[in-house]
Amino acid sequence: MNAMLDRDFGTPPSTSETRVSVEIDGMRIEVPAGTSVMRAAAEAGVSIPKLCATDTLDAFGSCRLCLVEIDGRAGTPASCTTPVAEGMRIHTQTNKLKSLRRGVMELYISDHPLDCLTCSANGDCELQDMAGAVGLREVRYGFDGANHLSAPKDESNPYFTFDASKCIVCSRCVRACDEVQGTLALTVSGRGFESKIAASADQSFLDSECVSCGACVKACPTATLTEKTVIEIGQPERSVLTTCAYCGVGCSFKAQVRGNEVVRMVPHDDGKANRGHSCVKGRFAWGYATHPDRVLTPLVRDRIDQPWREASWEEAVGRIASEFRRIQSKYGKDSVGAVTSSRCTNEETFLVQKMVRAVFGNNNVDTCARVCHSPTGYGLKQTFGTSAGTQDFDSVMQADVMVVIGANPTDGHPVFASRMKRRLRQGAKLIVIDPRRIDLVRTPHIEASHHLQLRPGTNVAIINALAHVIVTEGLVNEAFVRERCDLPEFSTWAQFVAEARNSPEATESITGVPAATVRAAARLYATGGNGAIYYGLGVTEHSQGTTMVMGIANLAMATGNIGRPGVGVNPLRGQNNVQGSCDMGSFPHEFAGYRHVSDEATRELFEDIWGVPLASEPGLRIPNMFDAALEGSFKGMFIQGEDFAQSDPDTQHVVAGLSAMECVVVHDLFLNETAKYAHVFLPGASFLEKDGTFTNAERRISRVRKVMPPRAGLADWQAVMAVCQALGYPMQYEHPSQIMDEIARTTPSFTGVSYAKLDELGSIQWPCNDKAPTGTPVMHSAGFVRGKGRFIVTEYVPTEERSTARFPLLLTTGRILSQYNVGTQTRRTANSQWHEQDLLEIHPHDAEQRGIRDGDRVRVASRTGATELRAEITDRVAPGVVYTTFHHPDTHINVVTTDFSDWATNCPEYKVTAVQVLPSNGTAAARS
Ligand code: SF4
Ligand code: SF4
Ligand code: SF4
Ligand code: FES
Repeated sequence: MNAMLDRDFGTPPSTSETRVSVEIDGMRIEVPAGTSVMRAAAEAGVSIPKLCATDTLDAFGSCRLCLVEIDGRAGTPASCTTPVAEGMRIHTQTNKLKSLRRGVMELYISDHPLDCLTCSANGDCELQDMAGAVGLREVRYGFDGANHLSAPKDESNPYFTFDASKCIVCSRCVRACDEVQGTLALTVSGRGFESKIAASADQSFLDSECVSCGACVKACPTATLTEKTVIEIGQPERSVLTTCAYCGVGCSFKAQVRGNEVVRMVPHDDGKANRGHSCVKGRFAWGYATHPDRVLTPLVRDRIDQPWREASWEEAVGRIASEFRRIQSKYGKDSVGAVTSSRCTNEETFLVQKMVRAVFGNNNVDTCARVCHSPTGYGLKQTFGTSAGTQDFDSVMQADVMVVIGANPTDGHPVFASRMKRRLRQGAKLIVIDPRRIDLVRTPHIEASHHLQLRPGTNVAIINALAHVIVTEGLVNEAFVRERCDLPEFSTWAQFVAEARNSPEATESITGVPAATVRAAARLYATGGNGAIYYGLGVTEHSQGTTMVMGIANLAMATGNIGRPGVGVNPLRGQNNVQGSCDMGSFPHEFAGYRHVSDEATRELFEDIWGVPLASEPGLRIPNMFDAALEGSFKGMFIQGEDFAQSDPDTQHVVAGLSAMECVVVHDLFLNETAKYAHVFLPGASFLEKDGTFTNAERRISRVRKVMPPRAGLADWQAVMAVCQALGYPMQYEHPSQIMDEIARTTPSFTGVSYAKLDELGSIQWPCNDKAPTGTPVMHSAGFVRGKGRFIVTEYVPTEERSTARFPLLLTTGRILSQYNVGTQTRRTANSQWHEQDLLEIHPHDAEQRGIRDGDRVRVASRTGATELRAEITDRVAPGVVYTTFHHPDTHINVVTTDFSDWATNCPEYKVTAVQVLPSNGTAAARS
């Protein structure tokens, strides 16, 4: 067994609370009822040979290697499929068993290429291990009979190979694809000697439905399915436990390394966010870290029309310090600010906001969460008292009804989507509220009970209509509301939603969703058992984003779906550390832990520790920084890991704002679009090159551990320290653990967090303090953090962005599995094979009206701007709606989006833009 892999107990654990006592090879052991004999033996330290069993999959019992003898039972049952029974006496090592196992292995080996010494899996092959374990020394049948040794290799997938000649048809891959990933892309085709593994309709892996999650590769006990990097680089020598840096699921991985080179990323079975699973990005798309485009030396220039010049860290940092001081003395203390990154660690984010507050002396700090989940923070704080989701991911396994609103988990949060699908296959019900028919609506063995295909921009009308049904049909959980919520506010809200204008019938013409569907969905959510709401940017990125978050919270409270496993309100956070960057005080009005800057006690606490007076007025938000730049009062900006020129709404405004500044600093891995407007570029460190923590969508704090030294010399936290030092504010941290200690000292929800505890527990969900020393998986269980749950009236106010005769279609945007955000990382990996360009999805009816054929280049124009891309004709979108992803810079979709934003948080209204789409004449410029 490879020491770098997680220990394999052969079959999944039993959750039974009844204990059963058995004797294995003379040893007595107690295990939960339902445990397999194989697992009980493993827990007693006895390894039973096995090939088709692994503890991440249900037992299958096909290889016949794990035979045992049981007193009083005839024959030699398979230990993986035999559950323990009280008083059982089991023998695992009799002569009879040894001989039977050797016979089974002989059959396998006689049809297997004997190239162990040159095989890429040498040392990491269960077949090889088992041949040794059963003491096989010779193969009596010879190797001349019919065999599969010349079976073809499928090398179509960019990340792994399928070498059929090595396949023992144990079906672990098939079961991994079914049970763990839920894609059902693989089958065993044929029978007996002819049986083989087939992808989809016996296609190549690349052409099949396979989504390259790697679950089958991990499950394969032989070299049949192998990572290409293992073949190229060789078996890894060491392993470092770390956390994926892509999305808010926060999967835990073992980075397996040879020298300083990552050989593969293996999802960690004990990772509480992913439970041993991964998606194509975290599993395979880490090659960007060593891509030749990485900038590894600081760059400086006096003006943005000049070429970059390489500089030492000392010169670059000195330049930032002298420029920021010059700007502040000329334009005032408030003329500079910074933006933290949701890609960076908690510790790095904390340091950047500390630099702004303690060193710049203002509160001009903001984060990219502004453009995604700021309405979640504000909305949930107002209603529940905490700016975060309420559950852990495990909770979904106890949900009876899932409501997915404005999120596309199979593409945006794939590993969590696999958990959802597993629960849905077990019989949980699904309601999807989305303008587009996302994959979850209908996927193998899953069909949503209701798809509320609403018009973009009408979320609040739908949530009010759902609430109307719940209130007027007597479906409110009155006991919960009476005990847990503020009653006068509930009454006001109930009266409001009960008004006829909020009924499904009255709102049907607004939302486009048939009233009967809304009524049925509301009844299902309110009465179907545990109801859990999951939502994404399709909720927040609207002019009423915050209102919708409040509406969701109202619905959960009214039905009592809050405060226990299986229920809750769960934002699916986009970036790996967007929760953390918000927690760490990245907003201009809040210190770490969401405490207002005007709060004197909090200010004093930080003033004491930081040794400087702190400003009590909130600083500028990102859009206001650009406004102020254009007005001439904001001149210096430190931007860590963020590409505004690419990812913010209304690109022209951003570019004009950046161009008006005198010192723009970009701290990143690559020279991104924003760097075109920068004066100093600091090379960033990838997640493989630093220590720290990320906090995922379930408030789970997980360690990021250094796998290799920072390629540019300094980790991001060290670079920020150097800037502070140059500005005359020395910092003394020797390791990010000391920054976490300061966070714990100053932030009530983090008081119990330390690197030592993270090492001990693996990960911790905040709040973690005296009351909850090991963290809090489910929030608001005994009462809401704010005391009584607060119902807030959510009046539907249509966005000012309307379709008109000139711009008759509504454009909305989303993600695709293989790419990530603006593609800075994923486009620098083989993931580009799956999504070479962004496409505009348009309904056949709208396409026909405009003479657009599938694949045609089209021009998408709004009142803000225009861009071009290729059309994909599909009925995934309703008539009147068009949809695109935003992963490619040349798409420039943000040229088209407007500057409307959420009333409470300024989160841009990315999800609704009135556009016209026409065939391109082929000569138009990409932008107007
Ligand atoms: S590919 Fe691997 S996991 Fe799948 S059947 Fe063959 S040996 Fe088993
Ligand atoms: S990589 Fe994932 S999706 Fe593809 S076949 Fe394997 S398990 Fe299925
Ligand atoms: S689901 Fe998210 S965190 Fe997990 S591997 Fe994929 S990108 Fe990484
Ligand atoms: S491991 Fe039990 S039958 Fe294969």
